[in-house]
Amino acid sequence: MAAELRGSTVRLATEAGVFSRQRVDRGTRLLVKHLDVHAADRVLDLGCGYGVVGIVAALLAPEGRVALVDINRRAVALARQNLALNGIENAEVLHGDGFAPVHGRNFDLIALNPPMRAGLAVVHRLIEEARDHLADGGRFYLVGRTRQGVVRLSQKMSQVFGQVCEVAKGGGFRLYRARSADSESS
Ligand SMILES: C[S@@+](CC[C@H](N)C(=O)[O-])C[C@H]1O[C@@H](n2cnc3c(N)ncnc32)[C@H](O)[C@@H]1O
Repeated sequence: MAAELRGSTVRLATEAGVFSRQRVDRGTRLLVKHLDVHAADRVLDLGCGYGVVGIVAALLAPEGRVALVDINRRAVALARQNLALNGIENAEVLHGDGFAPVHGRNFDLIALNPPMRAGLAVVHRLIEEARDHLADGGRFYLVGRTRQGVVRLSQKMSQVFGQVCEVAKGGGFRLYRARSADSESS
């Protein structure tokens, strides 16, 4: 399929067994629409699926670098294929659980459309670990369905980061952003 996102036509190969294979998820679209990417950002697309968020981030950060991580090997293979399909060279796809594949690395921007099916404990762990992988001034974005309890997740973000703001909502989804502790005043 092809999707128009942030002024680019993004080509996406998908397969059975990956999230939202027929069309780009509405929550993902909300996330991509409002993601504040700077040209030289180090970005993490956590739980990348077939890679749509990471691809758009890589296009918006031509001087930066994007890591895409997923625990599902099929998603990882598709995300790699999709980087190539879109001629993306400033990104890499890594297989593994949460932040394990990027251990010791910090990011200016982390984006998460959380795996609600994996359970609340996993999603809470990803939110907690995001705090430990944000660079000074870094931003953490999380999108989710209102019906699936994203407001509760924003409360978890608030506990972990100290503050959180609702960036956008629509179509039954809400997008939240938290900042690294040192940048609360910015
Ligand atoms: C809701 S989907 C979002 C996919 C993609 N970001 C998008 O918006 O289309 C969540 C993704 O997280 C992945 N996932 C689940 N548990 C994970 C974990 N512990 N670590 C990394 N990725 C995980 C799933 O395989 C799935 O691709």
